[in-house]
Amino acid sequence: MPPADPLQEIESLREQLDSWNYRYYVLDEPSVPDVEYDRCMQRLLQLEARYPQSQRADSPSQRVGGQPLQQFRQVAHEVPMLSLDNAFSAEDMVHFNRRLLDRLSDGSDSLEFACEPKLDGIAVSLLYRDGLLQRGATRGDGATGEDITHNVRTIRSIPLRLRGGDCPTVLEVRGEIYMPRAGFEQLNARARERGEKTFVNPRNAAAGSLRQLDARITASRPLEMCCYGVGLVEGGVLPDRQASVLARLRDWGLKINPESAVVRGIDACNAYFDALALRRDSLPYDIDGIVFKVNELALQERLGFVSRAPRWAIARKFPAQEEITRLLDVEFQVGRTGAITPVARLEPVFVGGVTVSNATLHNSDEIERLGIQIGDSVIVRRAGDVIPQVVSVVLEKRPDSARAIQFPTRCPVCQSAIEREEGEAVWRCMGGLVCGAQQKAAIKHFASRRAMDIEGLGDKLVEQLVDEGLVDNVAGLYVLSRPQLLNLERMGDKSADNLLAALDASKQTTLPRFIFALGIREVGEATARNLARHFGNWAALASATEAQLLQVDDVGPVVADHLRQFFDSEASMAVVASLQQAGVSWPDIARQPEQDTPLAGQVWVVTGKLEAFSRDEAKARLQELGAKVAGSVSAKTTCLVAGPGAGSKLARANELGVEVIDEQSLLSLLATHGVDI
Ligand code: IVH
Repeated sequence: MPPADPLQEIESLREQLDSWNYRYYVLDEPSVPDVEYDRCMQRLLQLEARYPQSQRADSPSQRVGGQPLQQFRQVAHEVPMLSLDNAFSAEDMVHFNRRLLDRLSDGSDSLEFACEPKLDGIAVSLLYRDGLLQRGATRGDGATGEDITHNVRTIRSIPLRLRGGDCPTVLEVRGEIYMPRAGFEQLNARARERGEKTFVNPRNAAAGSLRQLDARITASRPLEMCCYGVGLVEGGVLPDRQASVLARLRDWGLKINPESAVVRGIDACNAYFDALALRRDSLPYDIDGIVFKVNELALQERLGFVSRAPRWAIARKFPAQEEITRLLDVEFQVGRTGAITPVARLEPVFVGGVTVSNATLHNSDEIERLGIQIGDSVIVRRAGDVIPQVVSVVLEKRPDSARAIQFPTRCPVCQSAIEREEGEAVWRCMGGLVCGAQQKAAIKHFASRRAMDIEGLGDKLVEQLVDEGLVDNVAGLYVLSRPQLLNLERMGDKSADNLLAALDASKQTTLPRFIFALGIREVGEATARNLARHFGNWAALASATEAQLLQVDDVGPVVADHLRQFFDSEASMAVVASLQQAGVSWPDIARQPEQDTPLAGQVWVVTGKLEAFSRDEAKARLQELGAKVAGSVSAKTTCLVAGPGAGSKLARANELGVEVIDEQSLLSLLATHGVDI
């Protein structure tokens, strides 16, 4: 029962919302569905409007303030915000360690280090007085920054009031505000759709989002803050180690990086670096290095500072994710749906851990936006698993010989007309199935591992089959004969037999794979899976009305329209019929609409090595079934999936009596819910 007294109800709503925020942003353990959160927030806003005397600046409803500012105010940092020395190799780290031990010269031969990922964002100071957020400021030049209080207040991982009653009277917390990769990609995708300017990288996006006079703009940007230390502290005592200080900040409601760890000795620091370097691409945010700090604060004090950096810390940097190279040429590729994509041919450059010689230029708008010419020096970025991007042109370096990029006026493969739909950025070849490029791309997609998984039918072979006129659509694959195959160059008896066997084996498939394999525009794996689960069988799907299609998760008007066009196309349906005639089949899926998210409300954790798929893929599948996937095991965890090599998470699960299953059981569970990997 809610309290009868409205002022009391307001207070309890605030507490509830603060606690949900803390669980979500700091502990990474969402505890309520969004609708429940929104419902409580609406109720709070309603009550606060009705009882203005209850207004308080630290209410969770008060994140976005009033009018935009006229200009930023300057803020002097009482304790300067310093920078860090850099290390670029394991050897540099050994020298760093030597300097520390020499300077301390107290006989110890190894030190304890706090290891913290170096987030690539904007350094910010938060000032709390009596537990209330008073001011947020940028680092600026370290001595003076800008007041961005109105903007930091909108970031939900930043508490407006610290938790617990035991924080110092004055507590200045420092950390990094950053934009997680997923949010960055979404933001840029939206900007691209609207023809607006995109951000070069998540760091620039974070900086741009904080440099806003209107907090409503900042509030609409997916920013987070991770804290890594303190500045001014008055009227309170902090623990005596860096890692314990961070743990205390977390208790007070601030987010700290879950990858942080304490190790002893410099070799362990280098091992930590190597281990995180391997996972760098799969982290949800960009990091540009690891910061190593002497853990004991008393030792930090003894070590002191040189000029603008502490002696007791160092940042070991990863190889750069942005490099400069030259644009040699632009080629135009025609994709499965006829989309014409300009691809930059680059002078090979080592960036983000691989040698890059091609990068997509997306479409003609992007070429215009970049103002790029052949011969230009360009900045190429490769971060995470994201395909390399040309992010900007270095105009100062443009040679006299630079020449404009000519966008084709007809399909470069089949010479058909090209068209651009109203409001769309891409040009498409109108040749459809006549276009060799589209035929090849459709067949390659159909054969690919996550679609029909036809082993041995690689890209080169598909090209040969189409070029020789043996196949022009996917159904043609299943009527290929042995003599036809043997006529192909470099095709021996054994390869031909293997390919025929693989084609035969691929006929037994699943509905989600089949839908995905058809290559319907905008229907990726996840949508295909949702469609299969929703309709259960092909006939129901193919005869669904637009309104019925729209009821499926992930399916909006555009996707529904593409689906209907596909089902209404006689040519497409003839191909499907031929496939079925050739023996392509799949089991229907039991329809359980009310169980569309059978794991809703459950919290899962995945650890150890998996065989059939990566941990990230496993997480994605669990999330599709409605589970929340957390990074650590707690009393809230419903189930832990543990592969070989599982360590502390497994131990913790056993300790808490949390259910533990292996990969096989996970696969069977997914299968029973129609989720295919
Ligand atoms: S400690 C006195 N720890 O790196 C120590 N800095 O060049 C000063 N940064 O702009 C900073 N992650 O914003 C520290 N875990 C971390 C960090 C970190 C990122 C940034 C920081 C500063 C730059 C230092």
